[in-house]
Amino acid sequence: MLDRLETIRTEALEALEAAQKKGREAIEELRVKVTGRKGELTSILKSIGTLPSDQRPLVGQLANKYKKEIESAIKKALESLEESGGSVCISGFDPTLPGRRLPSGTLHPVTKVMDEICAIFNRMGFSVAQGPEIELDFYNFEALNIPPDHPARDMQDTFYIDEKVLLRTHTSPIQIRTMEKIQPPLRIIAPGKVYRCDSDVTHTPMFHQVEGLMVDTNVSFADLKGILTHFIHEIFSSGTGVRFRPSFFPFTEPSAEVDIQCVICGGNGCRVCSQTGWLEVLGAGLVHPAVFRHVGYDTEKYSGFAFGLGIERITMLKYGIDDLRLFFDNDIRFLTQFK
Ligand code: DAH
Repeated sequence: MLDRLETIRTEALEALEAAQKKGREAIEELRVKVTGRKGELTSILKSIGTLPSDQRPLVGQLANKYKKEIESAIKKALESLEESGGSVCISGFDPTLPGRRLPSGTLHPVTKVMDEICAIFNRMGFSVAQGPEIELDFYNFEALNIPPDHPARDMQDTFYIDEKVLLRTHTSPIQIRTMEKIQPPLRIIAPGKVYRCDSDVTHTPMFHQVEGLMVDTNVSFADLKGILTHFIHEIFSSGTGVRFRPSFFPFTEPSAEVDIQCVICGGNGCRVCSQTGWLEVLGAGLVHPAVFRHVGYDTEKYSGFAFGLGIERITMLKYGIDDLRLFFDNDIRFLTQFK
């Protein structure tokens, strides 16, 4: 009988361990089987009267001891199940530990500045327009008044796919695609990737530009100056000096390049501004009548201005980044600085 008691105890404790992995129901089943009203241990205790009198005290004591031990082990198992929210505890895995947090990602600095530029122009009534990166020669050059022998068409600058198809070299073709679709008045801002067959320390074969275009009756150079000056004061700071310098682009007349006071040295002259105190940030001008003629706009009735800027350059100046290649290395130590 004593052996039998021993076996019941060992088996019960082993079975409990297995039942704990299965859950509450399995433990309950075990309890009924061992210490329940008709359970193995209970039956032994009930039948003590039938044993020879010299065995009764020992069997009774031991059966009671094991019953208590098993009952308390069952109680503990149920409690620990309760603490883990009723879920099954797989050994080596503690469901009560707090979860591991994954670090959240950040927007790329170029994306951040691109969004910021669009937001500034949105507030001035410009809406975002888009165009294809694989573009026709017609939109990238011809409609923008860039003649076939213009140096910008040179094989060295443009990635040609075939004679008529290329990777856009600037965002200016979006001007043409937009004007073909909608009539003035219009104000658009068009960010995107552009491609040039160029690669050294300060040039990458792909970079980002933002194009702007406003067409209406009576748009003048004063509107261009006002809007671009406001933009520069928003993206850098309100005290930044701005100057407009005469320049040339085939698709604008007159054309200008816009400089800002060097954000690194404040205009005193440093390595970044080549000791001039100024940094070129934008190309701009009034839309050339030849461009309007390509899209069928009435050149007597409408006038407009356009501008284009490189986003990497603005981002470098805004954050004091001195190496263009950092944007393309995808080094997490660099990228996480732009939270
Ligand atoms: N597309 C020119 C470039 O890539 C930038 C530019 C200059 C755009 C003058 C314009 C503009 O719209 O009016 O260098």
